Parts: sequence; structure tokens; C-alpha cells
Amino acid sequence: MNHTQDLFVSCSQGLEPLLMEELAEMGCESLSPGFRGVYVNGAPFPTIYKINYCSRIASRVLLPMTRFRCYDDRGLYKGIGEIDWLKYIPEGATIAIDANVQHRNIRNSLYAAQVAKDAICDQFRQRLGRRPAVDTKNPDVQLNLFIHRETALMSYDTSKQPLHQRGYRQDSVEAPIRESQAAALLRLARYQGNEVFFDPCCGSGTFLIEAALIASRTPPGYLRHKWGFMNLPDFSQTDWLKIKVEADQQRQPLPKDHFFGIDINKNAVHVCKVNLRAAGFQHDIDVSQFDFREYTPSIAPNFVMTNPPHGNRLGEESLLRPLYRALGDFLKQKMAKPGRGFVFTGSLDLSKEIGLAPKQRYVFENAGIDSRLLEFDLY
Ligand SMILES: C[S@@+](CC[C@H](N)C(=O)[O-])C[C@H]1O[C@@H](n2cnc3c(N)ncnc32)[C@H](O)[C@@H]1O
Repeated sequence: MNHTQDLFVSCSQGLEPLLMEELAEMGCESLSPGFRGVYVNGAPFPTIYKINYCSRIASRVLLPMTRFRCYDDRGLYKGIGEIDWLKYIPEGATIAIDANVQHRNIRNSLYAAQVAKDAICDQFRQRLGRRPAVDTKNPDVQLNLFIHRETALMSYDTSKQPLHQRGYRQDSVEAPIRESQAAALLRLARYQGNEVFFDPCCGSGTFLIEAALIASRTPPGYLRHKWGFMNLPDFSQTDWLKIKVEADQQRQPLPKDHFFGIDINKNAVHVCKVNLRAAGFQHDIDVSQFDFREYTPSIAPNFVMTNPPHGNRLGEESLLRPLYRALGDFLKQKMAKPGRGFVFTGSLDLSKEIGLAPKQRYVFENAGIDSRLLEFDLY
């Protein structure tokens, strides 16, 4: 396939510059930042496979199908009806439409998705006498409708399931960090995989697993088997396998005794172990139940990344002040020197309790909360 495509690669808010950098490293050219994503212009078709398989930060890779002016629901219906849907939706395939709408006459995203679905189904009925079924949970073809002011953009979602769903999260804990967010923080920290990594509040193990994926050069899509692009009419199994094999050949074993995590909560440790097994790292990452305030690692880490609890409910924050002070002590006393410590937290007040001057502060919006990654140099 030698034609080119314009793509929109979506990501969480604030991660656009890191995604741009990652895509450039992957060889993508003609990149420009957008809101919650990056535009890739004139990309060769297999770029779709590469970003889906190899991007640690992207959420979805959207392939625009049509862009048109629409002033009301009738205009929306007409614009969607102009796409040749039989080309994109194979016989018997199910569909789902994810809509995001900001329009003065079409106020409701669900309604916009309904109008678009009617336009697709009516076209099918007129041409074939039947219509595709809707399956919002596990469709064969996931579509994305974005309406901003009076411009509608209909895209084919080549990822289908969001890319942070790597396939290793079998079970979860309260407030796990999203996989793509953890990978973005590790990129921000310029983590390369050589240091001794420790997470003293590891929860379900997201930082540990993402770090191990980076260190072992394992593509983030390695455990996944399905993407939306596999149902595209231009999908080439040969080109896809070429991309996959090339990426898989980069994999390397993890260094011994380099990944450790603890959590005070017994269930979190259990969940973490289940996830480690699913990721294939059960022999590489050592996790146990401890309170970091009473813990001395057998091998002093020179890289710590963690997100301690930050308290959502009233009064909880003040109870957590001593924990943050103890975390500062842990970094000072238990890490190898020189070392680098990173704390990700949703509380500015608690971050001040760490008692160390951060070398850098990076502020993000994470799940609707202003969060910051603090970097400490330990020497
Ligand atoms: C926000 S969660 C971490 C989530 C984790 N990054 C993940 O992706 O699943 C904070 C974790 O800190 C743990 N924790 C709280 N106090 C601790 C302590 N003193 N020692 C070790 N772990 C602690 C909690 O049990 C919880 O699992």
C-alpha cells in the first residue's frame, strides 16, 4: 500500500508534546499539535499499524473519512450519508459511534451519534435491504464523530479499544494511574531502563510494568491481538506483520534485580502480582507487602517513581502529611546516590511536605485533577 493518510493521534490532555516527541522518534513526519492529540499529515498507510503497536502515550489513532459543514441534525445526517459505508463496514459487522459534540444546534453527543447511526443504517437498508447491528461494548468497527462549532469530522477508529488497554491489567486497585500516563511520566523522566527501579506505593504495578516494558524494549501492544485497523478495507496482513516483527525483534531480557515494588495493602500486592504475571514479568519484578516507612530495600534503588495517595475527601489531606514527610525521608535515606526520585501527586499542599527541593516540577491535568510530577536529585 503506497498511498498516504492524514491521521489524528489522540492522547490525554497535557501529553501532546510528549506524544509529538514519541511520534517523531518513530519516524513520523509532518506533525502538528492539536487539542488532546497530534495531527500526522501524509503518513504512509503502515504508519497506522506502527503507532497503534508502538506508541506508549497515544490513546487512539483516528483516520478521518469525511469533514463537512453542518448546521443542524439534517446536515449531519446528509453529510454522514455521503460516505460509501459498504466500503468500510463488512457484511455482518457490528458498529459503535463515539461522539464528541460542541454545536449550538446539536447539543447532545448521544443524539449526534444516533443521527449518524441512522444515516449509516438507512444507507445499508436502501442498498442491501438490511442494516448493521450496534454493539457499543465490542464492535467490529468503531467510529468517531467530532463536531466542533459547525464542522463535523467522521473518523474510523483504527485502535478500537483505547491503546492504554495493553492487556496486562487483569485486576485493579483504587486510583490506579493510566498506563499511557505512567509511560508519559517515564518519558518525561528520561527513563531508559538501566537504573534500579523502585515503587514504594506500587498499587496495581502500573509504573513497574510500564518501566519494564520500556527497559525490555517490548512494544506496548505486544499483548494485544485486535485493533480496529484489521477491519479496514486497505488492511494488509503482510505490511502489518512486517511492522510487528520489526518491533518484536527489538525485545531484550530485563537485567536481573532491577525492578522492585512494595505496597502496604495486601490486596494491592495480590492485584499487582496478577498483573505482573499477565505481562510476563512475574520473574523479573519483585513485589511484596510492606509499609515503606519501615522498609529498607535489600538493593538500594537509584530510580524511584511513585504516586502515593493524595486524599480525595475532606480532612484526608491533613492525615496524609506525615506520609509525604516519610516519603521525603525514604528518598533521602534509602536511595542509592546519585539517584533520581519522582513523585506524582494530585495535591500541591502534600507535595510541599516531602521536604526536598524539587529540581523540576511538571504540571498536568490527570483525571480532572491538577497533578504534578516532582523530580528530586539525590546526591
Ligand atoms: C494512588 S495508589 C498507587 C496506584 C499505582 N500507581 C497504580 O497504578 O496502581 C497509592 C498506593 O499507595 C499505597 N500506600 C499507602 N501508604 C503506604 C505505605 N505507607 N507504604 C506502602 N504503600 C502505601 C496504597 O495502598 C495504594 O495502593
